[in-house]
Amino acid sequence: MKVKHLLSAADLSREDAIAVLDTAREMAAMAGREVKKLPTLRGRTVVNLFYEDSTRTRISFEAAAKRLSADVINFSAKGSSVSKGESLKDTALTLQAMGADAVVVRHPAAGAPHRLAGWVDGSVLNAGDGTHEHPTQALLDAYTIRSRHGRIEGLKVAIVGDVLHSRVARSNVHLLHTLGAHVTLVAPPTLLPVGVHAWPADVSYELDAVLPGVDVVMMLRVQRERMTDSFFPSEREYSRRYGLDLDRLRGLPSHAIVMHPGPMNRGVEISPEVADSARSTIVEQVANGVSVRMAVLYLLLGGAP
Ligand code: NCD
Repeated sequence: MKVKHLLSAADLSREDAIAVLDTAREMAAMAGREVKKLPTLRGRTVVNLFYEDSTRTRISFEAAAKRLSADVINFSAKGSSVSKGESLKDTALTLQAMGADAVVVRHPAAGAPHRLAGWVDGSVLNAGDGTHEHPTQALLDAYTIRSRHGRIEGLKVAIVGDVLHSRVARSNVHLLHTLGAHVTLVAPPTLLPVGVHAWPADVSYELDAVLPGVDVVMMLRVQRERMTDSFFPSEREYSRRYGLDLDRLRGLPSHAIVMHPGPMNRGVEISPEVADSARSTIVEQVANGVSVRMAVLYLLLGGAP
């Protein structure tokens, strides 16, 4: 891989992205074996630096690093000297002194992983920075789409909901565009960022007009914790216009899949019946996350190609 860090999905060339997806497939094949561990990163140290809550992403990076036999240090801002006001830079220098080969960072500020990359010698992996990017989520989503549909090129993907606050949407738009898919963002005008028309994606306000033509529908969580304003009249109104329920599911092409990065607001952006239906890949996405993160760690920390 040509890059040292994974800060943005936009940093990945088509070749790099495909190398990650191909390597992840090999890693997934290994997960079926009795002994799931590879010795590849023995003696290397991976630090998980989490300044924001996380369930899936943190556990997934930890499992990935451990399956590659790396030593893993988990750092969460709660209970650390960060609550005493220690800066990101001082925390970074501490990690540097401990000899971290890779730092996986989640931070509420957009750009924090980028700053960190200037302070440590190891590779920095962005595990979500504010509303900016979440590149490994986009890679695991691409992996899931490819394993269900056999390809990504030429597919029609709708990304629906709170695009404004979503780092998942940003990273997915970049990566899916690089891989040749056609993306349509669907949201109320209040939940679309300024400048969205410059993104390599179409924009629609009408979910029902878009759904009949899609191969993939990716629902986004309504991110209440990032909302400083009132962006829609009520949750009920939001889910009536932009929620995926059984009626809308029936209107999808029969081969279309339903995705969600989690955590879900069941009953808001997605109904429980849809989340648990055979068309949903939500649990598969989590499982694929481990293989994809193994691939990324392996490729960034010196594996071929
Ligand atoms: C996302 C995140 O934290 O950015 N979740 C995840 O990583 N699986 C999306 C979200 O919080 O809605």
